[in-house]
Amino acid sequence: MQQTPAHSLPQSLILVIFGGSGDLTKRKLIPSLYQLFKPGKLPERFAVLALGRTDYTDETYRPHLDESLQRYLAEGEYDASLAEQFLSGVHYLSMDPSEVADYPKLKESLARLDERIANPGNYIYYLSTPPSLYGVIPQHLAEVGLNKEETVGPDGETQAIRRIVIEKPFGYDLASALELNEIYRSAFHEHQLYRIDHFLGKETVQDIMALRFANGIFEPLWNRNYIERVEITAVENMGIESRGGFYDQTGALRDMVQNHLAQLVALTAMEPPVQFNADLFRNEVVKVYQSFRPMTKEEIRGSVVRGQYTESQWKGEHHRAYREEDKIPADSRTETFVAMKLFVDNWRWQGVPFYIRTGKMMPTKVTEIVVHFKPTPHRMFTTIDGETIPNQLIIRIQPNEGISLKFAAKVPGSGFEVKRVSMNFTYDQLGGIASGDAYSRLLEDCMLGDPTLFTRSDAVEMSWRFFDPILSSWQEEDFPLYGYPAGTWGPKQSDTIIDREHSWTNPCRNLTNSELYCEL
Ligand code: BG6
Repeated sequence: MQQTPAHSLPQSLILVIFGGSGDLTKRKLIPSLYQLFKPGKLPERFAVLALGRTDYTDETYRPHLDESLQRYLAEGEYDASLAEQFLSGVHYLSMDPSEVADYPKLKESLARLDERIANPGNYIYYLSTPPSLYGVIPQHLAEVGLNKEETVGPDGETQAIRRIVIEKPFGYDLASALELNEIYRSAFHEHQLYRIDHFLGKETVQDIMALRFANGIFEPLWNRNYIERVEITAVENMGIESRGGFYDQTGALRDMVQNHLAQLVALTAMEPPVQFNADLFRNEVVKVYQSFRPMTKEEIRGSVVRGQYTESQWKGEHHRAYREEDKIPADSRTETFVAMKLFVDNWRWQGVPFYIRTGKMMPTKVTEIVVHFKPTPHRMFTTIDGETIPNQLIIRIQPNEGISLKFAAKVPGSGFEVKRVSMNFTYDQLGGIASGDAYSRLLEDCMLGDPTLFTRSDAVEMSWRFFDPILSSWQEEDFPLYGYPAGTWGPKQSDTIIDREHSWTNPCRNLTNSELYCEL
């Protein structure tokens, strides 16, 4: 029996993309695969089989992908002859993934491709479809035996790679997530499942662990004795673009909070894993989710604010309201903004609020974590504006990736006044963030068979257990949905969830270019 050793690239592989004509495939998957192809990081014998309902052939499909490469790759990354070489390994099969009758056709196409590239049936399926198909596809794959890792080859039984990558959101609520987990468990083994959350593929998100666990000075302070509150912001200055159909069914809580923001909380709050490996790392993530303090209905009303952007005049341009976007009903109550306060009920974090927020059509695109340390117990010095200067550690996930530590320093001259100054590290100092997108990193990990940065079934479940009651509360007719003009920092009611003497940190701190600024 041929065994692929753990964490090694197979010699041959077919990546099957469900949703081949979709937005994610063009924007992220194909450019990321090209980024792996360029430095020779794909298996020696590799092919993509993209599936979709649109009636393409290989020849009519490839030019669309070539266009996407030119559009979405960073400047200088596109090379016409390399792109041609890469795209010659991309094939298209027109089929309806919801129709079980179409799966024998898929099996035949795969067998033909297997022959062409001498592949012993190694397949990775990538589900880049509307979430409504997440439950159907694994069952249909199982019905034609495409789920099984043990296949019968010419030499008797062969061990083939069969992995499946599922996009977020995994489930629509707790009940559907549990049901999906059941379906996947019945068709695949957990080690074959790669629930993707692309935030975990970001260098700066992984660096939270390096900051905390590769340094001796932060961890002793990283607890309720020294930290007063933690703020996590992940906002965007874009609307929903052409994703109206998906977004209106999803909303910000399912799209960003239950997964991306929850992961950021987990990395900030987790205990150090004994080793950085799939089980030990993911155990610690699950423990954080298990510690989220459940909220009563009243607490949800006091701690969670949802909003939806309204029309506005912004930067001299008219921006339409969410309800006027394509495919959005005029009376939609889908949230495009969420801010909330949550607590991690464990020994380390008891009583420390975590404030998290996300939104579309905000003034800028920025993701950052601000750790606010407690002030000194006694104030000896005056400050220029009479304010106290508690220390802050800012982890800027994007853009202008870096870390900034704020502390007080004496103002030169007579007297003894102090002011806030910054010590900054930006990733430029390490040669910048590698151009590879988070998707490249995660696709590579999946090909290598390393699930560490993918979400395990128990983590999905625990996260939903916490967030599901919020969705239920939102079903109540009188639960407010606040409007906010596109281009602003969200409904002002989001300020009310922060303790009275504090406010959200404005990530656009009007700093100089050498610091962690963001464009406004
Ligand atoms: C995706 C969401 O998962 O993350 C999008 O579906 C969002 O709505 C995107 O725009 C944000 O990711 P990034 O990497 O651009 O910050």
